[in-house]
Amino acid sequence: MNENWKFSDIPYHRPDVEALQARYDALTRRAREARSPEELVEIVRQRDALLAQGKTDHPRFRFAHEIAEAELVVMAAPFWDLSFPALLKVYIEQVSVDGITFGSTESGLQGLCRASQLVFLTTRGGFYTGDAMEMGSRYLDALHTFFGIGAYTCIAADGMDVAGFDAAASLAAAIDRAKALARTF
Ligand SMILES: Cc1cc2nc3c(=O)[nH]c(=O)nc-3n(C[C@H](O)[C@H](O)[C@H](O)COP(=O)(O)O)c2cc1C
Repeated sequence: MNENWKFSDIPYHRPDVEALQARYDALTRRAREARSPEELVEIVRQRDALLAQGKTDHPRFRFAHEIAEAELVVMAAPFWDLSFPALLKVYIEQVSVDGITFGSTESGLQGLCRASQLVFLTTRGGFYTGDAMEMGSRYLDALHTFFGIGAYTCIAADGMDVAGFDAAASLAAAIDRAKALARTF
């Protein structure tokens, strides 16, 4: 085991969050400016139209290809309003593409991602590990099955905002768990 190991030693691709946000903003703007219901429907259906034409190499699908081909997927986000922030959901909506990250077969849906594992790193203001009201990690657990990713692990630092609780120790313990997991890759 290399004791000097650092997170930055892991080769990974950072999703282009700014490009994702810009695309989301542009689509929202176009939808707001639509002059007729038909135009609005056309904007919403752009993705369906591209897929119907088999244009899966369109730039619109680059995030889907990226996650489908990744060997390991790491997502990191805080716990907001019982789940993860909406921008991560926007990302998931961009990458959930029939024929790239999952496929439809006669016997049902089948995941097409080749990653061995989806790791979710999160911090939470309160204590939600194992709680039915926690819907961020549980969503991503379901997503890993949907996408055909081999395994799912959530590493959470709970209690970040609880008065009198040792948040620094909770965070340090979560970081240690993440380091131990990373050494297994
Ligand atoms: C908009 C927003 C919503 C939040 N919702 C919750 C929540 O539902 N439950 C909870 O325990 N903490 C909630 N928190 C607290 C955050 O989870 C906590 O402060 C955060 O994980 C700390 O990590 P950070 O410093 O990386 O943001 C919320 C924080 C914000 C800003």
